[in-house]
Amino acid sequence: MIFYGVLFTVLVASGVNIQYYINSYVNDGCARIHNDFITKQTTNFNYADVKDCYKRFPFDKDVASKTIDTLTGFIGGFYSFLDKAKEPPQPGFDFRPMNLIEELEHFRKKSYTTLYDFTTDVEHLFYDLKDPHTLFSSDCFTTFFFYMNMTFYSVIDNGEQKIKVFNDTIDRSNIDCEVTHIDGQKAFQVISEYAKNSVYASRDLGVRFNIALDLTYPTLSFAARYEIPKKPDITYTLKCKNSNEFYVKRNWVAFSSRTFLNKFNDSKSYFDNICNPIKKNKQLTSFNFKLREFTKIFNDVNGLLTGQDQSVITIGIVDNFVGFYKVENFGVIKIITEHPAVLNAATLENVIQGFKRLVNTGVKKVVIDLCDNIGGYLFTTIFFNLLLFPNTYPMFAFDVRISEQIRLAITKQFKLAILNNNFDISDYVNEKTHANFTSVDDLFGNNVYTRGGIMGNYSNKFVIRDSELNEISQFIKNLTTPPPWKPEDYIILTNGLCGSACALFAEHAAEFNNVNTVAVGGIASIPLLSYSSFSGGSVLDSNDIFNSLAKLGLLNNTLMPKPFPLTGLNISFPIFEASSKINPDEILEFAFRPANFRLFYDEKNIRNISILWSQAAALIGSKL
Ligand SMILES: *[C@@H]1O[C@H](CO)[C@@H](O)[C@H](O)[C@H]1NC(C)=O
Ligand SMILES: *[C@@H]1O[C@H](CO)[C@@H](O)[C@H](O)[C@H]1NC(C)=O
Ligand SMILES: *[C@@H]1O[C@H](CO)[C@@H](O)[C@H](O)[C@H]1NC(C)=O
Ligand SMILES: *[C@@H]1O[C@H](CO)[C@@H](O)[C@H](O)[C@H]1NC(C)=O
Ligand SMILES: *[C@@H]1O[C@H](CO)[C@@H](O)[C@H](O)[C@H]1NC(C)=O
Ligand SMILES: *[C@@H]1O[C@H](CO)[C@@H](O)[C@H](O)[C@H]1NC(C)=O
Ligand SMILES: *[C@@H]1O[C@H](CO)[C@@H](O)[C@H](O)[C@H]1NC(C)=O
Ligand SMILES: *[C@@H]1O[C@H](CO)[C@@H](O)[C@H](O)[C@H]1NC(C)=O
Ligand SMILES: *[C@@H]1O[C@H](CO)[C@@H](O)[C@H](O)[C@H]1NC(C)=O
Repeated sequence: MIFYGVLFTVLVASGVNIQYYINSYVNDGCARIHNDFITKQTTNFNYADVKDCYKRFPFDKDVASKTIDTLTGFIGGFYSFLDKAKEPPQPGFDFRPMNLIEELEHFRKKSYTTLYDFTTDVEHLFYDLKDPHTLFSSDCFTTFFFYMNMTFYSVIDNGEQKIKVFNDTIDRSNIDCEVTHIDGQKAFQVISEYAKNSVYASRDLGVRFNIALDLTYPTLSFAARYEIPKKPDITYTLKCKNSNEFYVKRNWVAFSSRTFLNKFNDSKSYFDNICNPIKKNKQLTSFNFKLREFTKIFNDVNGLLTGQDQSVITIGIVDNFVGFYKVENFGVIKIITEHPAVLNAATLENVIQGFKRLVNTGVKKVVIDLCDNIGGYLFTTIFFNLLLFPNTYPMFAFDVRISEQIRLAITKQFKLAILNNNFDISDYVNEKTHANFTSVDDLFGNNVYTRGGIMGNYSNKFVIRDSELNEISQFIKNLTTPPPWKPEDYIILTNGLCGSACALFAEHAAEFNNVNTVAVGGIASIPLLSYSSFSGGSVLDSNDIFNSLAKLGLLNNTLMPKPFPLTGLNISFPIFEASSKINPDEILEFAFRPANFRLFYDEKNIRNISILWSQAAALIGSKL
């Protein structure tokens, strides 16, 4: 890289035509991107270059067929909801039931021009499950996110749901103008269809509508996305106060981070270092790393993360994890994630300190804000459950679909007792007796359920050992007394994007403690809105499973999935499932959980969180 920079300076200094130099790379979008990155010191690029870069790798039938082999191997062997996903949705949900293996098999007959087209087509199949735990993804095509300097929100105006401009970093005078049309179609319609077809992070369409407009995760929304948009620009019809409608045409710009841009200088090095690296840096490619990088870029661009509102008193903040606030006469506990950067005793002590200080303010009501929380560790959920609701059992019961592969892996692990293995069940005990499993058969049990018309074996239900729960409990008791608040003194506020470990927290509060919930936003014509999504169970990705199988000497076993043909490919999915306590036959992942109360966004509360918190707090103690 340094060599390249020096060479370039020399060329300029000696008067060689720069244009000529750039033109020599003109056929390769990846090289043009690299050139811009070096010469213009930019991290945003034009649509055409990224599209060209992504589409430089031709479709290869052998790669495709091996990819399908690996995917069907994982799904058939380890995906807990394989048969459940074949059942039609509960009322309130919106997704198509599917036989995932059968649909994957169809890809063997399909032909494509590029690797990108094949990859995105298979990704879309997984998107149709509307479960962000269950994804096929390629590092190759998540290096950039597309954005066009405009973001949106939605309000109800005289009974009509409208789309408005949240921010426009190119022309601030457009802020709060109504977007009447997007490329000539009604804006609300366009966003709703995008939510229905392209957003995948919830089974509830109303939640997907919120996500389409959400700015927290700049790869999931209409305005910021991973996939190459259909065309290079979008034309918006805007209507501002006291003015006529006018058009604004915006180009998509592709953003990336230096971490990725430093890895390639043309399409060959792009492929070798990003799509199919010899040694994969798990940390750098992980979903969470990308999310943090891209969120940072996005927030910098949009000037988000602005200062605190004066009406909000900050009681305590544990960085990017939990915040404790006082507004008027009520308290707020904002749980941002269950995946803090560092999770250790010191972090938890800080959380408990914040909690105690909030208790000491004497507030009688508490809003638990779980908006835009996509989960993390089950441990964190259990910790919060024990901290806030010490009188109820802190977790839901899990079980696992016993395929031949799972049976083999768990049996082998039970024998070898290898440390830190994903097939280790020694931390779990029988849900009914809380006794250790004495053998694998004691875990496997004899439970045949019919799901999606298929009979399958499922394990006995299990929970975490009491001794581990007691240790967390004791840790908390050592530092604080139980909260003064009763379940009816709380309300849980979410926009439905409370997923995974967050969903398990929210659903536990609602099911075990009857805490009320309020969901904000969604599609006004759909009366109910979920307060949580994708509760899943325990989620693994292909690398986790391969690593665990390797330790068990099962990597070459004919039952097990073969490696992906490219190292940059990845699949993730839940391998355990969680079930309801009240109705043990109900799988939480497929259970529609509407909030008790509903709020909508408006021009004020979209920008001022303390207003939204006050609206939620006003519902505490009110009758349903
Ligand atoms: C850039 O290109 C040169 C020459 O092809 C190559 O030796 C070098 O390793 C490349 N750098 C990166 C970061 O890929
Ligand atoms: C695989 O994909 C999942 C879901 O997108 C992600 O959480 C995980 O970090 C990925 N793993 C790797 C090694 O890329
Ligand atoms: C969009 O915003 C970014 C960051 O502020 C800026 O670099 C870029 O030039 C903007 N795009 C356009 C087309 O102005
Ligand atoms: C809009 O974006 C700009 C950065 O371009 C930022 O300074 C400003 O605070 C943002 N406005 C709002 C209302 O978010
Ligand atoms: C947010 O709303 C509260 C309550 O209405 C108000 O006191 C505060 O000044 C508002 N903050 C801003 C920045 O407008
Ligand atoms: C259950 O298993 C745990 C962990 O292996 C062990 O520490 C504990 O003593 C066992 N309990 C009984 C009653 O065997
Ligand atoms: C369930 O497990 C039993 C015992 O291993 C096996 O014989 C049977 O075929 C399995 N049933 C299904 C539907 O997988
Ligand atoms: C709680 O405090 C007791 C007595 O100081 C100590 O022995 C124990 O290790 C502490 N437990 C935890 C989990 O911190
Ligand atoms: C698995 O098979 C590959 C190729 O056949 C071989 O190179 C490797 O040593 C085998 N690994 C184990 C653990 O048996």
